[in-house]
Amino acid sequence: MASTAPELDPLDEHAVSTLVTQALADIEGAHNVAELKEVRLSILGDSAPLVRANRTIGQLDPTMRGVAGRNLGQARGALTEALSERQRVLEAEHEAQVLVDEQVDVTIPTQRIHAGARHPLETLMEEVADFFVGMGWEIAEGPEIEHEWFNFDSLNFDIDHPARQMQDTLYIDGTSAGGQGEADGHLVMRTHTSPVQSRAMLTRGVPLYVACPGKVFRSDALDATHTPVFHQVEGLAVDKGLTMAHLKGVLDHFARAMFGPEAKTRLRPSFFPFTEPSAEMDLWFPQKKGGPGWIEWGGCGMVNPNVLIANGIDPAVYSGFAFGMGIERTLMLRHGIADMHDIVEGDVRFSTQFGLTGRGH
Ligand code: DAH
Repeated sequence: MASTAPELDPLDEHAVSTLVTQALADIEGAHNVAELKEVRLSILGDSAPLVRANRTIGQLDPTMRGVAGRNLGQARGALTEALSERQRVLEAEHEAQVLVDEQVDVTIPTQRIHAGARHPLETLMEEVADFFVGMGWEIAEGPEIEHEWFNFDSLNFDIDHPARQMQDTLYIDGTSAGGQGEADGHLVMRTHTSPVQSRAMLTRGVPLYVACPGKVFRSDALDATHTPVFHQVEGLAVDKGLTMAHLKGVLDHFARAMFGPEAKTRLRPSFFPFTEPSAEMDLWFPQKKGGPGWIEWGGCGMVNPNVLIANGIDPAVYSGFAFGMGIERTLMLRHGIADMHDIVEGDVRFSTQFGLTGRGH
């Protein structure tokens, strides 16, 4: 330690220069600014031999003080200069090293912030709307809380049709029949997009070509293939001379747009109150489990004359066709999604698989 270092005789030039030589070596030997600080303390600190020796000058014979002062002064000067030179070098080295250590490679791909993804249902509905707009059809929308009249009556549902029963239809409380000044009937969460047919006929008139994508509600429990809130797209064309051949042509065209050039549809006789004749529509499905085959995709038919009449259109002049299918079902078929939970749970890891366009490529 400095305090135990041998006293330096300020008059001993040899000892002083030995000390300077050693100190210069120490200065050169400092590898960084922190080490150099230690070295500076040992050379020029309060208890450094050179500094202590300096304090003894006053006790010397006055004639000797000049020699001693010069001796020590030169040594201190040389060392102070060496220290600041070394300080400069070490600082420059440090800066150069920082530039290397903290170098940023702007070409390395970054950890991107997750921007989320649009839900494939949304993008599929847009794709569906684009398809119909591309054929020159209009997009029509209606309210999700709907008059029972639009949801059922205008569509030729009997007053005791089973679909009106509580287990299927979600009725809105406090909107019982015969309310003061209100239209007779309840409000319901619309159970299908078909009421938009009626609204479109009443407000737009004929000829009419509309597609109605939207949300519908049924009192079903959520399971692998059902959800109480889901989406449909409704198609409706009313014009002079429309036949089932036009319906079939539109369905095949739509199927190809959704499922590729191999796709086609098949109609099976069925019943809906609002169409006559009515058909279940099957889709040719090459990817079907257990080999290619037909799989149910939606319902369709020629608009029942009663529906045309209820909505102010003369069935003697006009005919129409209509169809409706589930958007969730379309998405599940198209992308091999086996479980409805994946669609409704809103996990972004599900949505991101469909990319930004939601089309899975
Ligand atoms: N509204 C029917 C449903 O929810 C689907 C449907 C069937 C719509 C036949 C139609 C149609 O337009 O013609 O199950």
